[in-house]
Amino acid sequence: MNRPPHPAPGAFTVHAPGRVNLIGEHTDYNDGLVLPMAIERGVRIAVTRRTDGVATIRSEREAIPATLDLRTPLEPGRSDWARYPAGVLAGYQRLGWSIPGFDAVVSGDLPAGGGLSSSAALEVATATVVEALCGRSLDLLDKATLCQQAEHAFAGVPCGIMDQCAVAFGRAGHALLIDCRSREIRAVPFGGGDVALVVVNSGVRHSLADGEYARRRAECEAAAAGLGFSSLRDVTPAIWEASRGTLPDREARRAAHVLAENDRTLAFVAALEERDWPSAGRLMHESHASLRDLYEVSCRELDVLCEIAAALPGVFGCRMTGGGFGGCAIALVAVDATDTVMAALGRGYRSSTGIEAEMFATRAAAGARVLPA
Ligand code: GLA
Repeated sequence: MNRPPHPAPGAFTVHAPGRVNLIGEHTDYNDGLVLPMAIERGVRIAVTRRTDGVATIRSEREAIPATLDLRTPLEPGRSDWARYPAGVLAGYQRLGWSIPGFDAVVSGDLPAGGGLSSSAALEVATATVVEALCGRSLDLLDKATLCQQAEHAFAGVPCGIMDQCAVAFGRAGHALLIDCRSREIRAVPFGGGDVALVVVNSGVRHSLADGEYARRRAECEAAAAGLGFSSLRDVTPAIWEASRGTLPDREARRAAHVLAENDRTLAFVAALEERDWPSAGRLMHESHASLRDLYEVSCRELDVLCEIAAALPGVFGCRMTGGGFGGCAIALVAVDATDTVMAALGRGYRSSTGIEAEMFATRAAAGARVLPA
């Protein structure tokens, strides 16, 4: 899936998609299985070269632009939005790439704080800018990993590899089954014809940097260690049945979610391949319930959205997507029912919560790229 080096034009625009995760939540940092897809909305960066080794980055959503001197190594320490591009630029500097100066304007149509990986999109878009400016490319997996490391070091979020892989490897009309241990990626046809995917923003701002995400990750690591392994991926059903009682209750619930979620992800792929939408939808509901009850990363608004969706004709399944604590839900919907489902979801959510939900239908889209001039 590697792509040829880009040309190094004087002015160009890069697009990187956001993502939803169809199923396989909070499994990536447990060496597990995930099934994200890139979506049609995303981040754009318009770039013009400069000759002085300085990068200026302006975002249409942010009042204060960033100026980065690329002639010296960039270090962590920023707390603004530009820590994401800065982390990526630093990653290429560490590889020894000499990055030319540029002026960049960032824009996009992902809901802010919606949990659709706007940060991974900004990271991978920045990486695509660097590669276009330098006229050479990393292998896509190395590019995604560099972006993940930027998020760890510059934003302090110990995220898994899912988001950056989804944004880098996205393929139109396909979800991506990613084995986060072997890093094997299989494109699975999704959508087209009889189903649509509706993304609904709960309007509750999701934030992963507040410590809950890191806490979940630590609890999973403690559960694996308590069972004698370095990763929950190594825990077989027999070991789990024999030993789950030895874990503290909270760790046991976290591990129970992760182990079942890996199984659900494989079952979901089988259902997609059979175009068995009722089974796929049931797995989405089960995933949501597990994230709500065992993993405790949902919130009342996301639960309300899923409850309303579950009762609507034409909805096969609904679940929160991404890290949780707010952000978006996704609904798998019979294509003919898309408009009525969206209208009914909006009405029901407004009357339950007073919140006007932003929503849109999306197809699976391509990964980050330089747009044709
Ligand atoms: C966030 C992280 C991902 C993943 C999800 C939960 O999106 O960035 O790595 O852990 O949460 O599945």
